[in-house]
Amino acid sequence: MRVLFVCLGNICRSPSAEGVFRARLQRAGLAERVEVDSCGIGHWHVGKAPDERAQAAARKRGIDIAGLRARVLDAADYRHFDYILAMDHDNLAAIEAGRPVDCRATVDLFLSYAGRPDDAVPDPYFGGDEGFETVLDLIEAASDGLIDEIRRRLAGS
Ligand code: 4NP
Repeated sequence: MRVLFVCLGNICRSPSAEGVFRARLQRAGLAERVEVDSCGIGHWHVGKAPDERAQAAARKRGIDIAGLRARVLDAADYRHFDYILAMDHDNLAAIEAGRPVDCRATVDLFLSYAGRPDDAVPDPYFGGDEGFETVLDLIEAASDGLIDEIRRRLAGS
C-alpha cells in the first residue's frame, strides 16, 4: 500500500503528515507494509527541508521530519500511489486537474479520514506557531482513521 500526502509547498503540512503517519504506522506494526511520501503543488521550495516551525512542532511530539526534502507532484505519482491525499481544496483541485484517466488511486481530502469530509488542514505558513499545532492535531486524527482503513484493506475486508 502506498500513500502520498500533498500540500502547496511541501514544507509545512504534507511533510508533517508524512512524519506523523509514518510514526503511527510504526506503532501499529504496519511500517513494512505501507510506503509513505509527500509532495507539493508549487515549485518554490523544491529541495528544501521542512519549515523550521513545522520541524519544531513535530519534534515536540517526538517526530523528526528534518531529513525530508520538498518535491513537486509528478506524473508517475498517479500510477505509483494507492492514496493521494490533499490537505486542502486547492490542492485537491490541482491533483484532479493532472489526473490521468488510468489513475486508480483514491484521491481525496486527508481530513475525510477524520470524519470531516469537506474540511481542509489550514495553511499555517503565513500565521503563528499555534497554526502548526492545529495542523498536527488534525493530521493525528486523520492518520488514525487512515490506519483503520488500511488495516481493513490489508485484511481483505
Ligand atoms: P504547505 O505551506 O503547503 O503546508 O507546505 C506553504 C508553504 C509555502 C507557501 C505556502 C504554503 N508559499 O506560499 O511559499
